[in-house]
Amino acid sequence: MEVWILFNEEVDSASAEAFEVRRFLSEGRDMGIDVKVFHPEQFDLLVSEEDRESILIDGKFVKLPDFLLPRTYVIDTGYFSLAVIRQFERLGVRVFNDSRSIEMVSDKMHTHQALAESGLPTPTTMLAKFPVDLDLVERTIGFPVVVKTLLGVNGTGVFLMDNHNAFSDLMNLIEQTNPNIQLIFQKFIAQSKGRDLRLFVVDGEVIASMERRATDGGFKANYTQGAEVVEFKPDQIAIDMAVKTSEILNLQVAGIDLLYDESGYTICEANSFPGFKGLESCCDVNVPRVIFGAMQKRLEAPKEPALTFAEFEELRASKLQG
Ligand SMILES: Nc1ncnc2c1ncn2[C@@H]1O[C@H](COP(=O)(O)OP(=O)(O)O)[C@@H](O)[C@H]1O
Ligand SMILES: [Mg+2]
Repeated sequence: MEVWILFNEEVDSASAEAFEVRRFLSEGRDMGIDVKVFHPEQFDLLVSEEDRESILIDGKFVKLPDFLLPRTYVIDTGYFSLAVIRQFERLGVRVFNDSRSIEMVSDKMHTHQALAESGLPTPTTMLAKFPVDLDLVERTIGFPVVVKTLLGVNGTGVFLMDNHNAFSDLMNLIEQTNPNIQLIFQKFIAQSKGRDLRLFVVDGEVIASMERRATDGGFKANYTQGAEVVEFKPDQIAIDMAVKTSEILNLQVAGIDLLYDESGYTICEANSFPGFKGLESCCDVNVPRVIFGAMQKRLEAPKEPALTFAEFEELRASKLQG
């Protein structure tokens, strides 16, 4: 099996993401899988009816791999990476995850829309509109309110505004300086302050989970923000929620984050490019090995052609009903 990883950093950089790519390379070697890493910008996208077996890399035609594993954030690489992934899909290469799902979960509003549509619990969320109607926010969401940038990752674009005045000041500042920014406002789930759950799902199964706990007294529990992590044995409700969420969003590899609330759990977000450095540090799990195993299984099954937009929507609707 040949797997290509799409990655937009240097493989030997110090980031957690690069560490994880190196984990894929070394596990791949041990499993006899040919793993190669490419930067999205190395590809030239040439659409033609003739050559359906290869793709242009650094100006040369190269035979397609069996699988593509995108490991890039939409906020960093935007349209270009999505176009690269779509090219692979349209040439019949299997991908974990596909471009539509990556695009959907990179957009926090779209994710909550899809979750609410399917009846999954999710905090009340509103898309910002300037000038902000403070009374409407107060009536529908209330304070404190969580403010998030639409495409943010790793907790960097997430803020907690304690009261009406602090929120109003921030909105005035944004309106003056950056009125085109896309934000969401969300109900603060107080029971979950400074802690949350990460369930890691691969092809419909929760393979490991952890609780993340902020160590700085803040409300964000991102590992990359310094949270400590401990293994968590999820109950059936949490497992079902994570599996269903990945299914609705059509994610084969997913990090599903749950917040604790008065009725159990509510879904904070879904990640299509979940990190696993923290997870492997506290759970007995080998994430690259499980993902490669799931790919090998998929290769044995008959190939499904890439879905048209209408087919994709139909598939999602049928998952909702089921
Ligand atoms: N509505 C909320 N109530 C309480 N805590 C929240 C809420 N939303 C986010 N958080 C905390 O902030 C962290 C980051 O938010 P998240 O939406 O996951 O953004 P990112 O994509 O940047 O990780 C979460 O892991 C959680 O600890
Ligand atoms: Mg998160």
